[in-house]
Amino acid sequence: MKFDFDQPIDRHGSHATKLDARAQKFGTADVAPLWIADMDFAAPPCVVEALQERARHPIYGYTQYPASLLDALIGWCARRHRWTVTREAIVPVNGVLAALSAALQAVTSPGDAVIVQPPVYGGFFHATSACGRKLVFNPLLERDGRYTMDFAQLGQCVKDGARVLLLCNPHNPVGRVWSEAELTELLQLARRHELAIISDEVHGDLALPDARHIPLATLARTDDRIISVVSPSKSFNLQGLALSVLVASRAELRAAVVRKVDELHLDGANPFAIAAAEAAWSQGDAWLDTLLGYLAGTRDLVAERLRTQLPALRLQPAEAGYLLWLDCRALGTDDHALRDFFVHHCKLGLNPGIDFGPGGSGFMRMNIGAPRRNVEAALDAIEAAVG
Ligand SMILES: Cc1ncc(COP(=O)(O)O)c(C=O)c1O
Repeated sequence: MKFDFDQPIDRHGSHATKLDARAQKFGTADVAPLWIADMDFAAPPCVVEALQERARHPIYGYTQYPASLLDALIGWCARRHRWTVTREAIVPVNGVLAALSAALQAVTSPGDAVIVQPPVYGGFFHATSACGRKLVFNPLLERDGRYTMDFAQLGQCVKDGARVLLLCNPHNPVGRVWSEAELTELLQLARRHELAIISDEVHGDLALPDARHIPLATLARTDDRIISVVSPSKSFNLQGLALSVLVASRAELRAAVVRKVDELHLDGANPFAIAAAEAAWSQGDAWLDTLLGYLAGTRDLVAERLRTQLPALRLQPAEAGYLLWLDCRALGTDDHALRDFFVHHCKLGLNPGIDFGPGGSGFMRMNIGAPRRNVEAALDAIEAAVG
């Protein structure tokens, strides 16, 4: 079956945050939306059909997470990631940030320190501070645009008392898919210091064809303290359905997670999210493979255009997903002027790098999850403005 990612779809009237929150975010709605992490593509046909089918049944009352949903996820993890997940390890939650917050609260107490690795997805900061935990930074190291983890400084964070790391794998926004060597070193450090790791792998299905996502849990021993967070939302563009899954194989960790999910009332099942996720995980492979090829093509096109026509903007091509991390430091502006340049001169809405914490200054995050002609139009606008 052919999937058409070039087909433009008008999102007006669908209450899309990407469109309707532009004035709030950028001070004007007159920007092309290349921000927030969703795509301007239709969900896979199998998902749309499953939703239509569920909608035909006219009762939308209280719903259970069915075993068939868990089995679809188990099959998906085995097929796509060589990851063996058991039914017992799975805790469904309504929302990814909700899942992260519940996991954090399950393994820490108020006032405890939580390590994050900026520049990183801003939701990590809020999820940590909103529940009264303290943020500790283990900034990524950057050399020639390539990001790595600073294990020496991470060890110091743990010696200073932090007991949990919120890992982003693949990393939003820098686009790294952490390698087996890096994850192994991380696990060894965690073992030495009894560090728990909450591994946010919501971009894991989106590793591009030249990279391989390795779920942290596949490298772990049974005594490692790991909670993984996965979701169909980024992979299949189902963010609005807000379904995610916590996976904790150690019994006492899982019990703590279940208690917290229950206490925070995060276990309410949405019948539409269930129908969509089950269809995606059991029939979405071909669509996702086609999407990944399309995104890799767009990523390479952007990299080439920047290299040949816009050398002031540097790009280390992402290893996963549709979020590109543009190094704009050579433009020589401060962050306020940089944002203004994109908004007012290019008429583009990108996420400013400073929203991702330390290390984000001078960068912009560009969402290329859109028909290629829209991305090319954005590059034209940048080129004209820089020129
Ligand atoms: C790494 C990461 N985790 C969590 C989230 C939040 O997901 P949701 O908005 O579906 O809760 C995002 C959204 O961009 C993300 O990039």
